[in-house]
Amino acid sequence: MSIPAACPFHARSLPGDGTPLKPSPQLAAWREEGAFSPLDFQDGHEGLVATRYDAVVSVLQDPRFSMRPSRMPVGPAVDDATAHGDSGHAPTAEAEAVPLELPGELDEAGRASDELNLLNLDGAEHAKLRRAVMPRFSVRQARGREPWIHAMVAAEIERLREKGPEVDLWRDYAMHISARTHCHVIGIPEHHFDTFVALFVEPSTAQQKYDFIRGLLEERAGDPGEDVITDLLANPDLDRIEIEGLLRLLMGAGRDSVAYLIATASVALLTHPDQLAALRGEPERIRPAVEEFMRAGAMFVTLFARTATEDVEVEGTLIPAGTSVSVSPVAANRDPAHWGDDPESFNASRDAFGHIGFGYGIHGCIGQQVARVEIREAITALLEHFPDIALVDAEQLRPQPFAHPVAVYEAGSVIVRLDGAAAIAAPA
Ligand code: HEM
Repeated sequence: MSIPAACPFHARSLPGDGTPLKPSPQLAAWREEGAFSPLDFQDGHEGLVATRYDAVVSVLQDPRFSMRPSRMPVGPAVDDATAHGDSGHAPTAEAEAVPLELPGELDEAGRASDELNLLNLDGAEHAKLRRAVMPRFSVRQARGREPWIHAMVAAEIERLREKGPEVDLWRDYAMHISARTHCHVIGIPEHHFDTFVALFVEPSTAQQKYDFIRGLLEERAGDPGEDVITDLLANPDLDRIEIEGLLRLLMGAGRDSVAYLIATASVALLTHPDQLAALRGEPERIRPAVEEFMRAGAMFVTLFARTATEDVEVEGTLIPAGTSVSVSPVAANRDPAHWGDDPESFNASRDAFGHIGFGYGIHGCIGQQVARVEIREAITALLEHFPDIALVDAEQLRPQPFAHPVAVYEAGSVIVRLDGAAAIAAPA
């Protein structure tokens, strides 16, 4: 199959007219014209974007596509307030708007911590670092954290109640839940929570982040726990540069994504009263509903672009060596060839397992199991404790600048009224 020719007079950039629950119709138009469409990249060359489900999965599981060089597609403006610092998902050094003051140290192979971002690595180098952190993110580990997350969410519900009756679910609820869980899993002690937020939620320099990580490693050296830092310090195969690089990535990656999903799921339910009522009637349906939140509310319009290391044929299309290929989870999650009738609509009782909201293949999301618990607990508690909750306004119902150059939807404020909620007991 051939790739549609790009119009020489109109650059093909990612469309900015979509919202999380109503993506740009351009994505569906590209999906209809073929599995791959031409797409312009920021360095001036033309690559491709995959929009069909089967093509997206094929690219993500094919080792002939490399994460290097790291290239960003051309898209609409990026929100300056969030693009600085680590608010995007695992931003690359190139994508970071703050000047990168390298922390100075290199390992024996001449690598700096910043190069050791899992999303910049392939093959054995990637596998080694991923293996070092995966055990802490297993299904079993996530299940073991449920009681802690449940109690923390209950405390956040009380904070909301005190702040209400009008609150911003994004800033006042979702961001707290994701930052607190992040610290818990990584092993950042409570007394460093405010510093973590100042450095990893707010803008800061790379040097400030590494100074914090180094201090933390020193402090935690004699204080093992059930967390990532403990595992990394005990791993004889990792050198200090690798440990610092992994922590820098993990402290930034996924936190905003969890908060985004909590905010987007809230908007989806509050704008679909029939489905809100159905979920309230059968709260045990929250597990499959989380998968539908992930499918219909996926935040990645495209993932980090891959590059073909040789000529590769995918779904009948020949992709020449050197071509940059972006894949679109948002488009794949709505491909009628995979999802059947009406994939554009949000339907909390749909079987949405198999969505690409967490990516797919060897770079698939490390934090997805704990993220599922966070979203499940956050939404369940909200519905249970605020029976009269009503949406006042949500920024994400209107197109917003992307939150990261890779093309990520922004959550934005979700203003609700909580009036009429029943009181709950504070967690032990
Ligand atoms: C709802 C929440 C989340 C979403 C939607 C999400 C989404 C994703 C996606 C789509 C990828 C693949 C990127 C690509 O292939 O280009 C990814 C990778 C990754 N995620 Fe998440 N994520 C979430 C939460 C988390 C959390 C909580 C953490 C860590 C605590 C995390 C850590 C990572 C890491 C380290 C990678 C890179 C994996 C690799 O390259 O091997 N994510 N995530």
